[in-house]
Amino acid sequence: MTDPLTSHSPRRRTVLATGAMGALLLGCSKYGDENGGGDAEETPSAAPAGKKLTKTGDVPVGGGKIFKDEKVVVTQPEKGDFKAFSAVCTHRGCIVAKVSDGTIDCKCHGSKFRVADGSVADGPAPKPLPARQIKVTGDSISLA
Ligand code: FES
Repeated sequence: MTDPLTSHSPRRRTVLATGAMGALLLGCSKYGDENGGGDAEETPSAAPAGKKLTKTGDVPVGGGKIFKDEKVVVTQPEKGDFKAFSAVCTHRGCIVAKVSDGTIDCKCHGSKFRVADGSVADGPAPKPLPARQIKVTGDSISLA
């Protein structure tokens, strides 16, 4: 039979030494991770489906509300009728700035888009704002 005390002692030192080295290596690998990979995350992308945007009561009838982070504008042309469009102006790509008097307005060069269908009402924008899909559940509006 072997003596458990004599056989464990050297192993314990080895484990402790490896643990210290492991901590050093972890520090190094974390630093390296910051430089590697993640190309997909650097590219701005549309907000994820299912993300809650607002409540129906927060979108004025005949107007709308802009969500800059999600790059979406939600409108309510008529009571209970909710629409959503890209908030990226089709002229040069500014995020639209406000919704008033039935239009979604870009301040960069003055384009205006209709709240009902995103079509161009005024300005240099060449195309309507593309529609975005939303889901209205009870009083909650989320991206579909
Ligand atoms: Fe919107 Fe030019 S970018 S009007």
